[in-house]
Amino acid sequence: GDDILSIAHEYDIDLEGACEGSVACSTCHVIVSPEQYDLLPEPEDDENDMLDMAFGLTDTSRLGCQIK
Ligand code: FES
Repeated sequence: GDDILSIAHEYDIDLEGACEGSVACSTCHVIVSPEQYDLLPEPEDDENDMLDMAFGLTDTSRLGCQIK
């Protein structure tokens, strides 16, 4: 895929993704810059539910497997 999680793995960046993109974990949590955050489509409910469990949640947090 071309989501952030896949790209991170392609470049050996240490981003976990325990559920491999099925929106069943929050280990792919990333913090996006406000500028980038505004450009992204809104998170779906399932992403928001998982984000609520992410460690260190911020206003511009997303799941890496759900953004491109
Ligand atoms: Fe599990 Fe993204 S890899 S939600």
